[in-house]
Amino acid sequence: MNEFFNDVWRGLNTSPKYLAAKYFYDATGDAIFNEIMDMPEYYLTNCELDIFTKHKSEIANTILSYFRDFDVVELGAGDATKSAHLLDVLLRHEIDFTYYPIDISQNIITQLNKKLPERLPGLKIHGLNGEYFEMLDELKDISTRNKVVLFLGANIGNVPLEDTPDFFTKLRSHLLPGDLVLTGFDLKKDPAIILNAYNDRTGITRRFNLNLLQRINDTLDADFDISQFEHNPTYDDESGACKSYLTSRKDQRVRVGEVGWIYFKEGEQIYMEVSQKYTTAQIDAFAEGAGFKTVRHFYDSKRWFIDALWQCV
Ligand code: AVI
Repeated sequence: MNEFFNDVWRGLNTSPKYLAAKYFYDATGDAIFNEIMDMPEYYLTNCELDIFTKHKSEIANTILSYFRDFDVVELGAGDATKSAHLLDVLLRHEIDFTYYPIDISQNIITQLNKKLPERLPGLKIHGLNGEYFEMLDELKDISTRNKVVLFLGANIGNVPLEDTPDFFTKLRSHLLPGDLVLTGFDLKKDPAIILNAYNDRTGITRRFNLNLLQRINDTLDADFDISQFEHNPTYDDESGACKSYLTSRKDQRVRVGEVGWIYFKEGEQIYMEVSQKYTTAQIDAFAEGAGFKTVRHFYDSKRWFIDALWQCV
């Protein structure tokens, strides 16, 4: 039995029910996520794009003040819109590096390998499809240079807060002293602005969540009636956790493959995803706790988002 089935079966037979957010990203999920990034409510993309357009030279110069012989790795590269700005500056400085985007979506990696060198002539790219740490392990046999690791787009926010210190400790253990890490963190702000970003009026985020049920239907031979689940995001300002749930509209049962039935009560929820928001103090504490030194925080003009540059000590 495959991993997807095992994870889905386990998550839906647990109380409270949950599904792993990494499964959002099939080809349809990737396309809907692109729509999310274009939504006016989803301020995160514009904030980070603002940082990369305004500060790309400063970011590049800071990196080049540490070393000139390195490779660039990107965790969860997506369409690489933001990182392309930095890669472009590095190419203009005639730095000889390879760009290693890592993404859980094979579709994304195929697109990047094909399209990015067309956009950035001279770019050496080697996409890696899989989980971050497994791919970082693979990379050890491919590249022995120092690394600049990009972890943008607030992807860290999808790691539960209690697991985040371990995540950064594990990342540090895959790197060498002197390596640099640039992480995008979404900051705490007016709760209404945050909730709106995950509860757009046009229903794009709703489709994004429901698409995972559709994926389960299509690939695991399940019979979710998608119309009988509602999208419910919440935001708790104290913890900074923005959580998405799908709520069953009625008592119902869903067949998953040959294996059996999952039972839902009316109002019962499936926990889909956390999109964590942070304070700068929390961000600095992550760095220190995991063996990094904070080099610099790059802010967007609204100061809603930080790209934090850390160095491995
Ligand atoms: C990919 N990740 C950073 C997005 C976020 O903001 O948590 C995923 C997302 N889910 C709903 N909207 C966006």
